[in-house]
Amino acid sequence: MMEKKVYIETYGCQMNVNDSEVVLSILQDEGYSLTENIEEATLILANTCSIRDNAEQRIWGRIDQFRLQKRTRPEVIIGILGCMAERLKEKLLTKVDLVAGPDSYRSLPSLLRAIAPERPQINVLLSHEETYADIKPVRMDKNGVSAFISIMRGCNNVCSYCVVPYTRGAERSRDPFTIVNEAKDLWSRGYKEVTLLGQNVDSYHWIDKETGKHSTNFAQLLEMVAKISPDLRVRFSTSHPKDISDEVIYTMAMYGNICRHIHLPVQSGSSIMLEKMRRKYNREWYLERVAKIRSVIPDCGITTDVIAGFSGETEQDHQDTLTLMEKVVFDSAFMFAYSERPGTLASKKYPDDIPYEVKTKRLNEIIELQGKMSLKSNEKEIGKTVKVLVEGPSKKNPAELCGRASNNKMCVFPSKGEKAGDYCEVEVVSVTSATLICKRIESYI
Ligand code: SAH
Ligand code: SF4
Ligand code: F3S
Repeated sequence: MMEKKVYIETYGCQMNVNDSEVVLSILQDEGYSLTENIEEATLILANTCSIRDNAEQRIWGRIDQFRLQKRTRPEVIIGILGCMAERLKEKLLTKVDLVAGPDSYRSLPSLLRAIAPERPQINVLLSHEETYADIKPVRMDKNGVSAFISIMRGCNNVCSYCVVPYTRGAERSRDPFTIVNEAKDLWSRGYKEVTLLGQNVDSYHWIDKETGKHSTNFAQLLEMVAKISPDLRVRFSTSHPKDISDEVIYTMAMYGNICRHIHLPVQSGSSIMLEKMRRKYNREWYLERVAKIRSVIPDCGITTDVIAGFSGETEQDHQDTLTLMEKVVFDSAFMFAYSERPGTLASKKYPDDIPYEVKTKRLNEIIELQGKMSLKSNEKEIGKTVKVLVEGPSKKNPAELCGRASNNKMCVFPSKGEKAGDYCEVEVVSVTSATLICKRIESYI
């Protein structure tokens, strides 16, 4: 029998990275092994993202390339997983053999068995329960140091621009004991860092089904994972400004191994835009949350996402975003031009009326300002001692190591032969907008 080999490309967010690991686990049980060589794959998968139109366009291009494999090997199966599968459903069937949405991965073995020439298979049912809690993801990271753990799926917010609630379905939390067990298992296998993932981790909420009483919130879950070992770093993403609680902030402060970093997407600095985006907070609320975080954890890294050119955005709204960025001084940011997504509230109610040139100009101003703010926030680190979890040799200079500080800033420093997964204490001597350049601390005996 022909050996079954799967090739997977993953697009989009960290949750998709983790989903691909769940998919690989399911496929391994079916006799598949992973290959990085598309030419020898019998199954080619793309785990896709729909968040912006350019994300989808890129993937369409890849699908065309995958199809070239069929010219010489017509038996190759091509499958689309993830958010694009969920959004476009049958429309993808003319191009590929398999379409499977984010909640349908358990059915992959039966779908694969049913595929025949001219008989593509599809499952895009969304679920209210599926969390893949019992599936042990097969890790695809290269160095065995850092892993993602999904703690919830879906999203119950209806930010008017966002496609995620439609592609991922309703929010549901995963049994905390399966999360802690997964983290313990990773720790016992030498992993040093876990990142707890959800679209809105602050609304994590588990109620024990048997008693109907005992419940776990996100702060409690964080604590449970942090207690596994003081040497296991715990990160999480994404926090929603409307939901991040004081309890979470205080829990972070209590445990040194919960990393001093919060990804807190602001989207816009204009309360008018935030209202239209249905973010359910305003500029003042956001600034108050930042002030609270910094009053409890002064050295906490804060990063964000910004959207330029949402429907009706005036020059004043745009200026409000710039002034908020100057006020907060984010450590880094992901910055996007608004992309209208079919089916969203905004696509029905609000015209995509900011001309391309204006959107681009505003986005460029935002990017330029963030460059300055990143540098400014990094300059504050000069002279500080930071504990870095080594990721490996620096890309630019193999005699140096790179790794992240607790606040998620990337550090480079001379190697003393440490390897990925070791901790090093170093001192920041100079910075760029992207990196802290550090020296070794001489030990005094
Ligand atoms: N759940 C997270 C965000 C997930 S999507 C949160 O609520 O913050 C990641 C980022 O993509 C968002 O924060 C937003 O900045 C961006 N994004 C989402 N939809 C977009 C759209 N239609 N156009 C441009 N950017 C978008
Ligand atoms: Fe999208 Fe809003 Fe949910 Fe984030 S919170 S995934 S932006 S709907
Ligand atoms: Fe993209 Fe889906 Fe994640 S749209 S950002 S892959 S949840």
